[in-house]
Amino acid sequence: EIHQREYLCNGEMKKWDGEVTEVYSPVCIPGPDGLTRKLIGTYPVGTEKEANEALEAAMAAYDNGRGEWPTMSVEGRIKCMEKFVYKMAEQRDLVIKLIMWEIGKSYADSSKEFDRTVDYINMTIDALKDTDRQSSRFEIAEGVVAQTRRAPLGVVLCMGPFNYPLNETYTTLIPAIIMGNTILFKPPKHGTLVHYPLLKAFQESFPKGVVNTVYGRGANVTPGLMATGNINVLAFIGSSKVANDLKKRHPKINRLRAVLSLDAKNAAIVTKTANLPLAVSECILGSLSYNGQRCTAIKIIHVHKDVADEFLKLLSEAVAKLNIGMPWVKGVNLTPVAEPGKPAYLKECIDDAIANGARVVNENGGTTVESFVFPAVVYPINEKMKLYREEQFGPVIPVLPFDSIEEPIEYQINSPHGMQVSIFSNDASETAALIDPFVNLVSRVNINSQCQRGPDVFPFTGRKDSAEGTLSVHDALRSFSIRSLVAAKLNDTNKQ
Ligand code: G3H
Repeated sequence: EIHQREYLCNGEMKKWDGEVTEVYSPVCIPGPDGLTRKLIGTYPVGTEKEANEALEAAMAAYDNGRGEWPTMSVEGRIKCMEKFVYKMAEQRDLVIKLIMWEIGKSYADSSKEFDRTVDYINMTIDALKDTDRQSSRFEIAEGVVAQTRRAPLGVVLCMGPFNYPLNETYTTLIPAIIMGNTILFKPPKHGTLVHYPLLKAFQESFPKGVVNTVYGRGANVTPGLMATGNINVLAFIGSSKVANDLKKRHPKINRLRAVLSLDAKNAAIVTKTANLPLAVSECILGSLSYNGQRCTAIKIIHVHKDVADEFLKLLSEAVAKLNIGMPWVKGVNLTPVAEPGKPAYLKECIDDAIANGARVVNENGGTTVESFVFPAVVYPINEKMKLYREEQFGPVIPVLPFDSIEEPIEYQINSPHGMQVSIFSNDASETAALIDPFVNLVSRVNINSQCQRGPDVFPFTGRKDSAEGTLSVHDALRSFSIRSLVAAKLNDTNKQ
């Protein structure tokens, strides 16, 4: 068990002796009352007082752009970040263990999350060197010589999601820091302890006040922080409902910079020419990796009616071969789902689909044992069902038949989301004809492969309720800075 009784503020690890939140793992263990979620630790329930203290520290460290951090050279900021990543690597084993226990991610995926984050930081450092090389050039136009500088924006409130508590949180946190901003960092509700071993690395690597933590029930502390009007950038990954509510609290909502990654209902489209075994294996990865708890997961599959039976047969056979087990079991594919209310919600979605004419195609699909949910293939989905539009964020695969390719296109046009789509086709001209409409409806079209964010060097964004701003390496550096110009007229005085 890990009991966090301190928080990082203004360069100090401050003692916490107030109320704490108990963290129960989704990994259930047998006890006298059957299987129960295991208590794995506690962390502070911060209040408005500490949140304001953190805000003051971040504002003082920024000091209207005159602080040590926003004025530090690019080389200086890179050195601090390199020190951080070195210290972070020392905590690898513990952080991986915490990811496994706190959100039920398999050992392989938890390790990948950690290592991918380290790579992301190193890529961000390289991207900054690149950006700096480009922006330090002088340009001359119409008798004016100018140099652009990528300048910071101020105080950034960073909030990440539970499903990638480390990686996605750092997807905003790291570029925001390295561009010279100062930070208020609120870890996700499920996935807070994951960050505890790394707080010291922040404390020892950056000047005081650059990174400050905020704990507490989100609804109690974050709206108040936004209402001060002193947050310059909201960097949030989670639901659009929470993001919109936070944005509305800001008195200068129209001028607030927001970098948001939000809801998604990514579709796979399996045409009648598709290589079905390939489509099935990619759809399994897309729909069920980390139990479907990814914003980039495939959350609905449109299959051409002529190949629907064969596709469903292959999909059900592939699902039957998956291993369900504890996160530490080698080769495990599905693990306990992280959110306590999720199994009941998924059951509700499946029951609703059955009541409206669908069936669960695979044996045991949708059966739950505490936090384990056996994946369910549900067919045929129609617009009356929750699974048609709602983002299930769990191991349920809704499938619906189509006749004309216009149907999946119409589905996307009418969707409130616009993140990704996967097209499975073996006909080059059919694929080519589908790319253009979807490029203009989502932010990434995958050809004969699952939906996913990586490789992380590529931009990550979305349309409609799926995102605002763009993340991933070069784009993220731009998201957390402004192009500021130093310009001089080529007159006699300036020639000196
Ligand atoms: O939850 C959203 C994540 O950004 C998904 O990332 O596609 O690498 O799993 P991923």
